Amino acid sequence: MTAEVEEIAALRDRLQTWSAAYFEQDSPLVPDADYDAAMRRLEELEARYPKLRTSDSPTQRVGSTPLNAFDTVAHRMPMLSLDNAFSGEELVDFDRRVLDRLGQSATDYCCEPKLDGVAVSLIYRHGVLVQAATRGDGASGEDVTANVKTIRNVPLSLQGTQVPSYLEVRGEVVIPRAGFEKLNARARAGGQKVFVNPRNAAAGSLRQLDSRITSKRPLVFTAYAVGVVEGDLPDFHDATLHQLHDWGLPISEHMKTVTGIHACESYYESLAKRRDDLPFDIDGIVFKVNGLAEQQRLGFVSRAPRWAIARKFPAQEVTTRLLDVDFQVGRTGAITPVARLEPVFVAGVTVSNATLHNADEIHRLGVRIGDSVIVRRAGDVIPQIVSVLPDSDSGAAQRVAHDIIFPSRCPDCGGPLEREDGEAVIRCVGGMTCRAQSKGVIKHFASRKAMDIDGLGDKLIDQLVDEGLVGSLEELFHLNQQSLSSLDRMGVKSSANLLRAIEQAKDTTLPRFIYALGIREVGEATARALAEHFLTLEAILRADGEILEGVDDVGPVVAQHILRFTADKGNCGVLEKLLDAGVRWPEISAASGDGPLAGTTWVVTGKLDSMGRSDAEARLRALGAKTANSVSSQTTSVVAGVGAGSKRKKAEALGIAILDETALLELLEET
Ligand code: IVH
Repeated sequence: MTAEVEEIAALRDRLQTWSAAYFEQDSPLVPDADYDAAMRRLEELEARYPKLRTSDSPTQRVGSTPLNAFDTVAHRMPMLSLDNAFSGEELVDFDRRVLDRLGQSATDYCCEPKLDGVAVSLIYRHGVLVQAATRGDGASGEDVTANVKTIRNVPLSLQGTQVPSYLEVRGEVVIPRAGFEKLNARARAGGQKVFVNPRNAAAGSLRQLDSRITSKRPLVFTAYAVGVVEGDLPDFHDATLHQLHDWGLPISEHMKTVTGIHACESYYESLAKRRDDLPFDIDGIVFKVNGLAEQQRLGFVSRAPRWAIARKFPAQEVTTRLLDVDFQVGRTGAITPVARLEPVFVAGVTVSNATLHNADEIHRLGVRIGDSVIVRRAGDVIPQIVSVLPDSDSGAAQRVAHDIIFPSRCPDCGGPLEREDGEAVIRCVGGMTCRAQSKGVIKHFASRKAMDIDGLGDKLIDQLVDEGLVGSLEELFHLNQQSLSSLDRMGVKSSANLLRAIEQAKDTTLPRFIYALGIREVGEATARALAEHFLTLEAILRADGEILEGVDDVGPVVAQHILRFTADKGNCGVLEKLLDAGVRWPEISAASGDGPLAGTTWVVTGKLDSMGRSDAEARLRALGAKTANSVSSQTTSVVAGVGAGSKRKKAEALGIAILDETALLELLEET
C-alpha cells in the first residue's frame, strides 16, 4: 500500500497548490480537466482505502451527502454584535468614552472594513478544522461544517508552528459582487430565483443542506477576530490577525492600525471613496482598540464590546416609489424595462432610474407602477429594484397601483418581437432597420474601447441617425462638411474636428475592430484572443465552430454568436464597405513577435493614475510583449498599481519582477 500512500500525498499536495492558485490568486496553473482528473483519482483512492481519508483532504471541498437539518452548537464564548456610529461626532464620542475609561490621552485603533456577509466561528483542534458554526442568536448557532469546508480559502488545516491546541477563529463569509452578479445573471437567464443582495446569497449558500450546492457558490472567508483560544497569541489585535494569516487564514488586506480617532476618520473617508472599487460589499468600517490589555479593561456592555465601534456608510438599499416604466431597445434588440423612480439618495448618489432586466423579473418581483420598492445600488452595477414593499397606510394606498404592460411590438420601430428558446430576453428582430438598434450599434462602434472616435458621443449619434445622415456603420466614413452642416449646433470648426477624428479612427487595430463590430458576447478580451489566434480578419471569417472553440475564451455559445454574425450576408457587406472606406490596421506578427519586449509576458494589476489598465496592456503589446490576466510561472513581469492584491502577492511568491507605475512609464519611455 506504500505506493498508494505516496500517491495520495502527492495528489493532495498538487490539488492544494492548484486550488490556491485558482481560487486565491485567480490564476489557474493547469486546465480544469487536469484538476478534475486528479480530484477523481484521489476520491477513488480514498474510497478504496477509507483509513487514509483525512478531514483536511481536498476531496472534502466538493461537498458531501445532504443533511436533513443542521445541528445546533453552543458558542463557548458568545458572538457579540457591534455598536454603530452614524456620524463623525458619534465616532468622536466613542473615542472620548474609551479614553475616559482608560484614563489615557490617546490610543491605537485597528481599522478594518465591515464586511457585509454572514458571521461564522471556525474551530481548529491541533490545527485541523473540526467545526464551523453560524452566529445564530450569539449564544448558539448552526453547525455548517460541511458547507464551510467547501469554501476554498478556508484552510482545512493550519500551516506553521506553534498552532494552539484549540483555536476559535471568527470572521465573515461573503460573496464578492462579481460572483453575485454572475450567479444572478445565470439564475435570471434560467428563469430561477435570484438573490436580493450578496449578503442574502452568502447566507442562503451557507445554509444549504446539500454542501455540494454550497461548493459551487463563490464564497470567500475573511478572519477578523479570535474566540476561545488554548495556546499563545500576541498581545495586540493586529498582531493576532497577522499570526492567523501566517497560519494560512485569510485576513483583510485593508486592515490598518492608526493612532487617535482623527486618523480613524481619515481611514473612513479614504475607504468610503474606494467603496465602489472593492470587490465585495462593505457597510462600514470597524474600529477596534488595538491593545488586548486595553480591550480587557474596557470590557462589554450587554451585547457589544466597549472597545469597538462600526462607523456605518450610507445605505446601499433604500425605499422609494416606482413612478413609471420605459422600455429601451439595446444594440442587440434586447428590450429592457427601465424603472423611473422618485429620486432617492443611495450609497452617496441620487438615483432616479433602475433596471428591471426583463419581463420575467417584473413578474417575479410582482411590481406594479405606484408601488413602494427597495432599490439597491452597489459598486458600478446599475441600480436594481430588489423587492416590493407591501403597501402601508402611508397615503400610498390611495394611489392605485397598476400593472406594467410589456409591449407586444418594438417600442421604437414597431416591428415584431421574439423570444429565443430558453432565453429570458425579448428582442426586436429589426436589426439595423430598427433605429434604436442602429443607434446602439453605432454608439458601440464609436466608443472609446472600440474605434475610439473622439467627439462622436451618444447625443450626436442620435442626431445623425434621426436626420438620416447615418444608417449603417460605413456611412460614418462618408460624412462631410456639407452633410454635417444641416445638424443643430454644428459649426464649421466642430464639424472639421469631427471629420478629422473619424479619419484618424480609420487607423485602428484588429482587436479593436473585432470588438467594435458588437458581436454578442464578444467583449474586449475575446476580441483580442480572436485577433491573436487568427492574426487576420479573413481567417476569422473562414473559421468554423470547432476552430473557433479552439481559441482561449471562446466556448460553444460565443462560437455560435460569431458564426451567426459571419454567416450574415448583410454583415459581410458592411465589413467590406468599412475596409473600402479605408479602415485599416497593422498586420499582427505571429506569436514569435518582434519589438523590444518580444518573448515576455506581462500582467497589469491594480489602478494606474496616468492610464487605464487596458491602455497599459496595449502599450506593452505594441512593444511585442504578451499580456495575460493572471500570474503564473510563465509571467515575466507584473505592473502593480494602487490596490494590487493577490496577483502582486503571487508574483512576490514566484520571485517575478514587480514594477510600479513610475517604473512602467520609464520603461515605456526608454523603449
Ligand atoms: S468584530 C466583538 N470585525 O459585524 C466584536 N465584525 O455588527 C465582534 N463584521 O456580527 C465583531 N466585519 O459579523 C468585526 N471586521 C469586522 C467585521 C465584523 C463584519 C460583522 C460581524 C458581526 C457584525 C456586528
